[in-house]
Amino acid sequence: MKELLVEKYRPKKFEDWVGNNKDVEILKDMVRKEKNIPHLLLVGSPGTGKTSLAYIIKNELDAEMMEINASDDRGIDVIRGKVKFFVKTGGVKFKILLLDEADMLTEESQHALRRMMEKYSQSCRFILTANYENKIIDAIKSRVKVIRLERLTKENIKTILKRVIDGEGILIDSNVIDRLAELANGDARKAINILESGLVDKKFDSSTLEKVGDVGKMLNFLLEGRFEDSLRELDLILQTTNEREVINLIFNSLLLNTPQINNKIKYVVGVKLAEYEDRLTRSAYPYIQLYSLLVELMYLFRKGSEQK
Ligand SMILES: Nc1ncnc2c1ncn2[C@@H]1O[C@H](COP(=O)(O)OP(=O)(O)OP(=O)(O)O)[C@@H](O)[C@H]1O
Ligand SMILES: [Mg+2]
Repeated sequence: MKELLVEKYRPKKFEDWVGNNKDVEILKDMVRKEKNIPHLLLVGSPGTGKTSLAYIIKNELDAEMMEINASDDRGIDVIRGKVKFFVKTGGVKFKILLLDEADMLTEESQHALRRMMEKYSQSCRFILTANYENKIIDAIKSRVKVIRLERLTKENIKTILKRVIDGEGILIDSNVIDRLAELANGDARKAINILESGLVDKKFDSSTLEKVGDVGKMLNFLLEGRFEDSLRELDLILQTTNEREVINLIFNSLLLNTPQINNKIKYVVGVKLAEYEDRLTRSAYPYIQLYSLLVELMYLFRKGSEQK
């Protein structure tokens, strides 16, 4: 099977890793000078390079790494078994245990994890990744170095895209690259995947972009009172984005890109988004929450335009 472009172009050394981050610089020095790392917690939204960073460290230290996804192996006992086996077997190489999506573990499991981290700290280092820092217990946070990865900028995404475009010899207009980088909303994986999905004989078919969900477009539909259209856009967005992330994107988009909404309305919308963000964490049917949010937003926008 052909290798996916996101894997083919995964950064292999620190120099390949895109984005400005002081902590990553410090980490690079530590890895290169001391040939060692503390336990790490890498936090950031999807496609910002958390897993990639773990692999860079593995490469640079020539380490042995085992990757466990906390949301696949939900039971902490399964994880414990794997860890135990991993530290006991193998050679003399530096050992890293990469636990992806550690924020999916229950609090109780995280306490068990913390005990494991202490017990095995002589023989291996843990690298945890998480989307949401507030879901990680303090007892873990105080025992790791936390590295927060910011959402990548549009320029960062373009740099990453251009590497793939040049590497593959892809034909694509610069304004299409621009639009693609915008749609990715700081998620490099999404950017590369969209690029790959639109390739026909090394040429990018720009009509692919019309099929990608766009939060700005969804909000504009709501502003125009076109509810059905906004729902259709939401469905497209949900093909590549989880529900909580949608709320985050609406927040960003409203603050940055919608001058037609007056400030008073923005404040109320902000409060609403906070409410729904909280609701989503407890909801069994997140789609219903988003549906309801869109209805509320549409009425708020309408009220705003009547007041003008
Ligand atoms: N900072 C970066 N520099 C260069 N490439 C990046 C960066 N971040 C992401 N990428 C590209 O995007 C792909 C996905 O990145 P990665 O798997 O590291 O994201 P992640 O932060 O672990 O996301 P998730 O939270 O979804 O697991 C990589 O294979 C790489 O091609
Ligand atoms: Mg990852």
